[in-house]
Amino acid sequence: MKNNLKVLLTEEQIQKRVKELAAQITLDYSSVDNSIRRPVFICTLKGAVYFFADLTKNIKRPIMLDFAKLSSYRNGTVSGDMEMQSDITTDIEGRDVIIVEDIIDSGKTLKFFVELLKKRNPKSIKICCFLDKKERREVDMEADYVGFDIPCGFVVGYGLDYAEKYRELPYLAEILDPSKA
Ligand code: IMP
Ligand code: MG
Repeated sequence: MKNNLKVLLTEEQIQKRVKELAAQITLDYSSVDNSIRRPVFICTLKGAVYFFADLTKNIKRPIMLDFAKLSSYRNGTVSGDMEMQSDITTDIEGRDVIIVEDIIDSGKTLKFFVELLKKRNPKSIKICCFLDKKERREVDMEADYVGFDIPCGFVVGYGLDYAEKYRELPYLAEILDPSKA
């Protein structure tokens, strides 16, 4: 139902912004001695998959990649208790960690993940999110790098889904009527 989708960000706009973010992160981590301890970029599956791929390809320094799958017992668009479905395999002790997330909504998913990773004694943890819905925040959680601030509606595409649909779209769109999606 294409006419139920309103394009918010085109593929070109997304690609341009992702390159800007990668350039900023490359600069910010340029003093890290990557030959000894490469920063670990963690992709939160599944939503961040395209953002993670495009971002990390444009980091002009040696890094490591890892993947985690978190899930909240979601009831439609309301997030509940959190669970780690699939953990990273990298030992992050003493390393710089950059969590790459698709979207921060209530902030609960990231808060849970950051608290969990902190117990493993990384040198630092930063958050890079593609989208930020600031008005929806329920817990204290801010990203260090934000692709785009967006309003409250439910968005899909570029990895983000509605009931596992629309992830493969190369652009970002808002669902106008979720009951018809
Ligand atoms: P939070 O824990 O409420 O911050 O929820 C974050 C997670 O909810 C994201 O990682 C997404 O998986 C999902 N989510 C929140 N808003 C949207 C949206 O507009 N579209 C698709 N997924 C969303
Ligand atoms: Mg997510």
